[in-house]
Amino acid sequence: MTKINSLRGMPDFYSDDLISWSPVENKLEKIFKAYSINEIRTPIMEYTDLFKRSVGDTSDIVNKEIYSFNDRNDQSLSLRPEGTAGVIRSIIEKKLDQQQSKLWYMGPMFRYERPQKGRYRQFHQAGVEILGYPEGQADFELISMICSIINALNIKNAKLKINHLGDKDSKKEFSKALVKYLIPYKDKMDEKDLERLGKNPLRILDTKDLGMQEILKDAPSLNNFISDSANLLLSSIQKTFSDLCIIEIDNTLVRGLDYYTGLVFEASSSDLGAQDAFIGGGRYDNLANTLGGKDMPAIGLAIGLERIISISSITKNIEKKVVFISSTSNIAPLAFKIANQLRTANSDVSLDMDLTDSSIKAKLRRANKTNATHAFILGDEEISSNMIIVKSLRDDDEQVSMSIEECIAFYKKI
Ligand code: HAM
Repeated sequence: MTKINSLRGMPDFYSDDLISWSPVENKLEKIFKAYSINEIRTPIMEYTDLFKRSVGDTSDIVNKEIYSFNDRNDQSLSLRPEGTAGVIRSIIEKKLDQQQSKLWYMGPMFRYERPQKGRYRQFHQAGVEILGYPEGQADFELISMICSIINALNIKNAKLKINHLGDKDSKKEFSKALVKYLIPYKDKMDEKDLERLGKNPLRILDTKDLGMQEILKDAPSLNNFISDSANLLLSSIQKTFSDLCIIEIDNTLVRGLDYYTGLVFEASSSDLGAQDAFIGGGRYDNLANTLGGKDMPAIGLAIGLERIISISSITKNIEKKVVFISSTSNIAPLAFKIANQLRTANSDVSLDMDLTDSSIKAKLRRANKTNATHAFILGDEEISSNMIIVKSLRDDDEQVSMSIEECIAFYKKI
């Protein structure tokens, strides 16, 4: 039989990989709690129209990267490429779009991108959405949270770029001016930028083409189209948090999703390589309305977990581990009873019951090859005397006989 492999860009994670995940996930949850944010879980699959209307059918994410298929009822469904659309869909459905909420989520997202280091087809995000608050305080709160995350996870060489896209009208005016400026350069544009010129000209500001970057140097600048209050918001955010993290105002930052208006931001670190953004987000005041809800101002962010974990230097959890070895002449019910008591007494230790039928000697040899600190041995003799041998697996090799009560007390302190 031929073997079946995993899908490209959709890696499996074993505990050696995951050992660095849980400290970061736990720390993020703690930060969300400290900012009084509540958890929400939405399905990983939604109607395709949800993403077309929110992320935008001119965006690369919906145009080229979405995983869509028809279900048995011939309805087009998609795996979520991001979490914001599902959260807003849910808020509208529950009629919560007229109140304020602060929500966070964590989970897998799916984008059919070309896999490379830091870019996957199934990846994980932790996201936060602050709903029902117009431009102002919520923007400060979210940037404050980003600084907390960067500092709590000890991210080095991090930079937060911020920009303001204006409201719907100023975004339109700026697009018009940009297209007018760019039309004479049409023959110098590659296929991708030509397509953007027709569909979503702002995205051209994001071009990787060096020739285009040169042309854009003299293009109209977004900050001439946005209001004084928007420019003031950017500078006062920069000033407020400058002692907590490096913030740079970048008028070319546009983001790849269509729903943004107002403040947008992206945190990156030079430690990440080509895919250097580990947080992205911004304000999206028109999304609820576009999805059939009431007007609801909103702002949010998403953290790329694979990326932030790869550069976070918070200490990894050191696993405490004990191997339990019992006599094999019979299955010893006492072994399972004691093991159960031990696990209840201290759930921070992982108790690895050797489930093989091999001899005590062979089990001990195996235990020595693990990272366990101790082996608890319950041989035939110990079973009859109600004792247990506690053997150190570190250099001293010391071993003591203990009553079961003593052993439990010892286990509690490991
Ligand atoms: P985004 O910028 O598309 O924003 O994604 C946020 C982060 O997810 C990125 O900065 C990156 O770290 C990570 N990411 C994106 N694509 C991949 C991939 N293929 N492989 C690995 N990591 C990836 C959003 O998704 C918006 N929903 C953020 C938001 C929330 N805006 C408002 N609220």
